[in-house]
Amino acid sequence: MNASHDESVPADMAPLADAAVAAARRAYAPYSKFHVGCALRTMEGNVFVGCNVENASYGLTICAERNAIAAAVAEEGAGMRIAALAVWVDASETFPPCGACRQVIAEFAGPDVPVLYHAAGRAPVRTSVGELLPQAFRL
Ligand code: THU
Repeated sequence: MNASHDESVPADMAPLADAAVAAARRAYAPYSKFHVGCALRTMEGNVFVGCNVENASYGLTICAERNAIAAAVAEEGAGMRIAALAVWVDASETFPPCGACRQVIAEFAGPDVPVLYHAAGRAPVRTSVGELLPQAFRL
C-alpha cells in the first residue's frame, strides 16, 4: 500500500494524519480492498485510532471513523468530545467520510471541529464537521 501522507498536510493535523495512515495499514478489508484509517484527538488530548473492519456479510462492516470513536468512548467515557479528526484512504483519490460516519462524528463534535481527509499523492482536504453535515440531526 502507498503509505505516507502528502507534505501539504497542515502542521497542526500532521500527527493525526500520520496516525490515520498507520491505522489504515491494519484495516481488515479483504472484500473492498479499500483500506481506511482514522485518528482523532479528544478534548482531553488523547489520540485514538480506528480502521475499517469488513465482514463476509457485507452489511456488518464498520467504518474506520466509527471504530475510532468507539475506542475513544470506551476509554474516556460518555463525555468524550472530539477536538480534531483525520481520515486516510489507501486510494488514488480522496474520499470524505460516509454519511453514517458524519452523523456519528457530529454526535461527539461541534460544527467547528476540523476534519482532514487525504489519500496518497492527492492534496489533503481540510474541512469541518459542520461543513460535512450541516443541519445535523440532534435530540
Ligand atoms: N469506509 C470507511 O471506513 N469509512 C468511510 O467513511 C467510508 C467507507 C470503508 C467501509 C468499507 O470497508 C470500505 O470503506 C468500502 O466502502
